Amino acid sequence: MSGSSDLDALLEAAREAIARADATQALLEVRASFLGRKGSVSELLRGIGSLPAEERGRVGQAANEAKRTIEGWVAERKEALERSATDDALAAHHLDVTLPGTGSPSGSLHPITQVTREMVSFFASMGFSLEEGPEVETDWNNFEALNIPPDHPSRDEQDTFYLEGGHVLRTHTSNVQIRAMTGRTPPFRFIATGRVYRHDLSPRHSPMFHQIEGFLVDERVTFGDLKGVLLAFGRHLFGDDVSLRFRANHFPFTEPSAELDYSCTLCAGKGCKVCSDSGWVEWGGCGMIHPKVLERCDIDSERYQGFAFGMGIDRTAMRRFNIPHLRHLFEGDLRVLGQL
Ligand code: DAH
Repeated sequence: MSGSSDLDALLEAAREAIARADATQALLEVRASFLGRKGSVSELLRGIGSLPAEERGRVGQAANEAKRTIEGWVAERKEALERSATDDALAAHHLDVTLPGTGSPSGSLHPITQVTREMVSFFASMGFSLEEGPEVETDWNNFEALNIPPDHPSRDEQDTFYLEGGHVLRTHTSNVQIRAMTGRTPPFRFIATGRVYRHDLSPRHSPMFHQIEGFLVDERVTFGDLKGVLLAFGRHLFGDDVSLRFRANHFPFTEPSAELDYSCTLCAGKGCKVCSDSGWVEWGGCGMIHPKVLERCDIDSERYQGFAFGMGIDRTAMRRFNIPHLRHLFEGDLRVLGQL
């Protein structure tokens, strides 16, 4: 190894190998095979000692020149490889900001929540305040103070979930009447909504359902006031053509008491499946607050009177959204809820 043609051949081989290297690792290996301690150029430099003295300088210079040339090519190739790796990465993760977005599906309020809020906002517009009561309630607030004697059928274990310590799961929202009236001086008007519980499970009944309760106490309150408020409420929910029907009934906490129906909105009173061909749909109960209830809340029943009413929210929501089965309200099936 001495002639310049050997060096030319070596340079040519290096140029080709460097051009062929298609990754940084392969390039480093090519570099080592020419410039490394055991590489071809190093070998050539090591052979210089055996050359005649007058050739050593020229060959040494040429070899060093070749070394620099090869380093230059390696550096160039390395940069090119790195640049194309970056280009590849950019191409692979191409982001077209002009494409339309896919968006995420939006949720919506549960039908019971929608109807509850609509009811509350109606009564708020009539000056009623929202009052809350707990679902775990004392016997006094749920029964005793509402004039429900211990032997009343609604206390039957079939209906009431009894808890330890004499508490019950409230069977109606009427417990809020006692909580709101005790310690307050009339006039006042309140609305309350929430879950109530009864020992009842069938296709038409759920052990947990929702009620709305309203009550107003003042001087000179009459049953006519109650009818006026409920008619405005019915028209707000079901439209101006709706009629209400009051049927004499008995509740321990009202006197007189009435069962409340509204004219079937589906068949306009002609008779259909929803109203069982009667033209009327049961809605709730109402009446004038029993003087004994007022007295148990320390309100002077000689001076003050009040009316109260309570109805189920679930059935109202079913009518409103045309939901055929009660279970659709409680199963939480998004395929059903998504359509409402
Ligand atoms: N609490 C009764 C029930 O759950 C409904 C009711 C009837 C509420 C008459 C009232 C009322 O406020 O006056 O069946």
